Amino acid sequence: MPEKNEQIVLAGRPEGMPSQEHFAFEEVSVEEPQDGQVLVKTIYLSVDPYMRGRMSSAESYVAPFEVNEVITGNVVGEVVASKSSLFEPGDKVMGMLGWKRYNTIEDAAVRKVDESIAPLSAYLNILGLNGLTAYFGLLEIGRPVAGETVVISGAAGAVGMAAGQIAKLRGARVVGIAGTDKKTDYLKTELRFDETINYNAVSNLETALEEACPKGVDVYFDNVGGPVSDAVMTQLNDFARIPVCGAISSYNKTEDTGPRVQPTLIKSRALIQGFIVGDYASRFQEGSEKLAAWLSEGKLKYEETIVEGFENVPEAFLGLFTGDNLGKQLVKVNEPAAGVE
Ligand SMILES: NC(=O)c1ccc[n+]([C@@H]2O[C@H](COP(=O)([O-])OP(=O)(O)OC[C@H]3O[C@@H](n4cnc5c(N)ncnc54)[C@H](OP(=O)(O)O)[C@@H]3O)[C@@H](O)[C@H]2O)c1
Repeated sequence: MPEKNEQIVLAGRPEGMPSQEHFAFEEVSVEEPQDGQVLVKTIYLSVDPYMRGRMSSAESYVAPFEVNEVITGNVVGEVVASKSSLFEPGDKVMGMLGWKRYNTIEDAAVRKVDESIAPLSAYLNILGLNGLTAYFGLLEIGRPVAGETVVISGAAGAVGMAAGQIAKLRGARVVGIAGTDKKTDYLKTELRFDETINYNAVSNLETALEEACPKGVDVYFDNVGGPVSDAVMTQLNDFARIPVCGAISSYNKTEDTGPRVQPTLIKSRALIQGFIVGDYASRFQEGSEKLAAWLSEGKLKYEETIVEGFENVPEAFLGLFTGDNLGKQLVKVNEPAAGVE
């Protein structure tokens, strides 16, 4: 049994952009697992934009984090002690766990992950909720068909990259919008997006979109909202579909205004639909199998930005709002070696 443990709690609720002061580190002891429990050493920890919503007290589709309580998120780890018949030391598992170096939890809170299919970090990325979000949002709401133009915002992030590649697999022409040249270069050269736009480098995003989408926009997979989405909405074709996945541009705003969308929707007869990946929970098995098959056939790629060290979890989270990450932002907390430190 390791002796020392550390955890991160929400130290206060931010107004606007959060900062390091909203997170506090606490030293705690490692709790020995009781019957039916396992002790899991964190290997990779996922930081996600939606967690910003949970830092506020506002009602949403997930409950707010409580002040002075441990923050939770998706973690891949290794079982280091087990009082469960389902797991033994050395098993690699994932689950919604605390931002802790070690979690002692009920065995039902984790499931095994298979390193022979993909590296552990992929289970917090293309083979996890990000891949599933792209898969269901794009295919169930966006429904692209061959030859259509699909625009993705936040295209160089974890969800955006997956959505763009799946749209390519459906034969669509894919245009990705992201915030740096490094990101747009990656999308074009590595992921074969047809066109890309760096929204920070163009003087007029509408004009850039007109050039990149000469036949208009049939599907807009929206990860960001705000001015980027306002511009895409001016380019919609008749009967366009808009899966609204995220609105990261507004997560730190205390006030946000924008154009009214109703006239645009009436004129284009476009369908706009928000969704939460959990809406498709009953079909996760299907989505996971499809994503794993595409990955093993070399039809899908994934990218990750890994920050090393538990002490850097807040910094990695905050970096999501300044565009620090290419692909999925993860924190590597421990090496995946069997045993304890
Ligand atoms: N509906 C669901 O169930 C569900 C599930 C997972 C994620 N999401 C949402 O999907 C979106 C993407 O999530 P992710 O995990 O893949 O994150 P991500 O895209 O990997 O990371 C966030 C990216 O957002 C971009 N960004 C930050 N501020 C922005 C702004 N003001 N305007 C435009 N872009 C901005 C940054 O890239 P740039 O450099 O390009 O600006 C940053 O790298 C998020 O909005 C998230 O909340 C929804």
